[in-house]
Amino acid sequence: MAASLGREWAGIQQFPAATQTKLHELLGKLKQEKVTTLTILVMGKGGVGKSSIVNSIIGERVVPVSAFQSEAPRPILVSRTRLGFTLNIIDTPGLVEGGFVNDQALRIIKEFLLNKTIDILLYVDRLDAYRVDNLDRQVVKAITDGFGKEIWRRGLVVLTHAQLSPPDGLSYEEFFSRRSEALLKVVRLGARIKKQDIQNSPIPVALVENSGRCNKNENDEKVLPNGTAWIPNLIKTITDVVLSGGRSIVVDRKLIEGPNPNDKGKLVIPLIAAFQYFFVIKRIQKWIREDIAQEGRPSWA
Ligand SMILES: *[C@@H]1O[C@H](CO)[C@@H](O)[C@H](O)[C@H]1NC(C)=O
Ligand SMILES: *[C@@H]1O[C@H](CO)[C@@H](O)[C@H](O)[C@H]1NC(C)=O
Repeated sequence: MAASLGREWAGIQQFPAATQTKLHELLGKLKQEKVTTLTILVMGKGGVGKSSIVNSIIGERVVPVSAFQSEAPRPILVSRTRLGFTLNIIDTPGLVEGGFVNDQALRIIKEFLLNKTIDILLYVDRLDAYRVDNLDRQVVKAITDGFGKEIWRRGLVVLTHAQLSPPDGLSYEEFFSRRSEALLKVVRLGARIKKQDIQNSPIPVALVENSGRCNKNENDEKVLPNGTAWIPNLIKTITDVVLSGGRSIVVDRKLIEGPNPNDKGKLVIPLIAAFQYFFVIKRIQKWIREDIAQEGRPSWA
């Protein structure tokens, strides 16, 4: 039992000293705000690098990753404690199979999350992909339908394979901004968030490079092409999201089985049907009756 309460976060000591210092600062900041546990849910399509992110953050190879089987077949919870702070990260199977959202996978994930509280959603995709399509939108919609729209207030988009050379003579910044804008638009549409709302509380985008060949700075920290050490940057972005508001999502039976948390609006549909009945169908019936009455009348009348 003790093991499941969270082992000591030993991996943190594998990080370069500069990263350790920044992480301890961020954990201190969270504890100051009375946040002593953080549960991070990692979701997205398959093969985008979800498991590698978990390994990178924990600083140990806790989730198996291989080029051929890039997927955790079922959700995996990794729990670590450090200086009175507990970090839980949940890796999940990819949400797409054969070109469709895999509802079964989503159901298994939700069931796994029963009685857990999600503080942060990492929605993972690759930076080095060149388009977004309807499937991306369906994945976002499935997450939104499964956990409620509110989860995006605690969400961030994470782009892996950050160490790329942009095609077509685009600058890195241009490529990054196009890719993240396209993805954020898909998230906004899939989650049915109003443009206004997303402007008021934007969803941040963080970059990640899990490769062992990632460039390093003079402190031996893995860096993004712009020189930012990405592990502390990711944890800082997560900390900012947690402290900027929103609510954690409590996964209870009701959320798993109950009416879809976004279905409230659908009550409107019977109303529309009733409206149509009284105002459209009734009128048509009236016209028909009038028509019949007229036809029934001799034309000379
Ligand atoms: C979840 O919580 C409910 C209510 O507190 C409890 O009855 C149930 O046994 C719990 N289930 C699991 C799997 O922990
Ligand atoms: C580098 O990129 C990261 C991720 O996009 C960003 O958060 C950071 O502010 C950038 N740093 C500089 C110095 O531009």
